[in-house]
Amino acid sequence: MSDCVGFLGAGNMASALAGGLLARGHVPSDLMLADPLPAVLAEHARRGCRTSSDNAELVQQAQILVLAVKPQMLAAVLAPLAERLRERRPLIISIVAGATIEGIAQLLGGGAWAIVRAMPNTPALVQSAATGYYCSPQVSEAQRQQAQQILSAVGLALCVEDEALIDAVTALSGSGPAYFFLVMQAMQQAGMALGLDARTARSLTLQTALGAAQMAVTADVGVDELRRRVTSPGGTTEAAIAVLSSAGLVESFDRALHAAQARAAELGRQLQEAAR
Ligand SMILES: NC(=O)c1ccc[n+]([C@@H]2O[C@H](COP(=O)([O-])OP(=O)(O)OC[C@H]3O[C@@H](n4cnc5c(N)ncnc54)[C@H](OP(=O)(O)O)[C@@H]3O)[C@@H](O)[C@H]2O)c1
Repeated sequence: MSDCVGFLGAGNMASALAGGLLARGHVPSDLMLADPLPAVLAEHARRGCRTSSDNAELVQQAQILVLAVKPQMLAAVLAPLAERLRERRPLIISIVAGATIEGIAQLLGGGAWAIVRAMPNTPALVQSAATGYYCSPQVSEAQRQQAQQILSAVGLALCVEDEALIDAVTALSGSGPAYFFLVMQAMQQAGMALGLDARTARSLTLQTALGAAQMAVTADVGVDELRRRVTSPGGTTEAAIAVLSSAGLVESFDRALHAAQARAAELGRQLQEAAR
């Protein structure tokens, strides 16, 4: 890929994506980052990336523009760039939570745009993201592949066929790391209640989570079968699973993800109204 990829905002996620692309052999000078903070840009410049504190300069040079500012900043950031963007028509990849394709297009003066709306998650910071993305109808197959290449530089990236599913992605993988952190916290505390010291409980919990995830990712069977295989009738695992099941764990996850999905849709509506 020799198109210039420009990041509007050089914070945590943009830095993770740029770092992932560099780690995969992307030419540093084909990456450009714009941000108001010189200290943020200095680190990227040191790695050979182009940087600017002027968003208009970024827009002038980028064929692919990654929107990576905070949601509440988006309208103010795009307004002065809209005219230049209408002339240049780059592929736009937005990772801005809650910003819809229609909302972004409105901020750019309306009409149809090639926009990829993506929802990565925090493990992008350690190159282990799970990202779902949706492409507006104007995105060509070649552009979709470019977006796939950029987003998968920090982990898994999967395309969904309906923009409304981005709220489901947000509920599942966007917020998902916190669910696992909560489970790990609960296991750690329970291990300590059984007499293990904090360090041992923590290490055993984290390694168990990592090992289980690695097994699940590499196995040729589903997680239900993996669980069945480690649950001997009358054994210790069965005793624990019975408690979790009777406490309604599965139903709780169902309700939790529905709540997160509804909240994601609501926040998206609020963002769109605030930008009007
Ligand atoms: N972190 C996650 O796990 C995650 C997951 C999914 C989606 N996202 C989305 O990713 C986006 C970025 O999140 P983040 O965690 O990377 O936030 P972040 O670290 O705060 O990055 C945003 C960057 O944009 C800069 N910025 C502010 N105003 C600007 C302007 N006028 N022009 C150019 N840059 C400007 C900020 O600079 P200052 O620090 O000076 O304000 C900051 O460096 C958000 O929209 C978020 O919804 C994040």
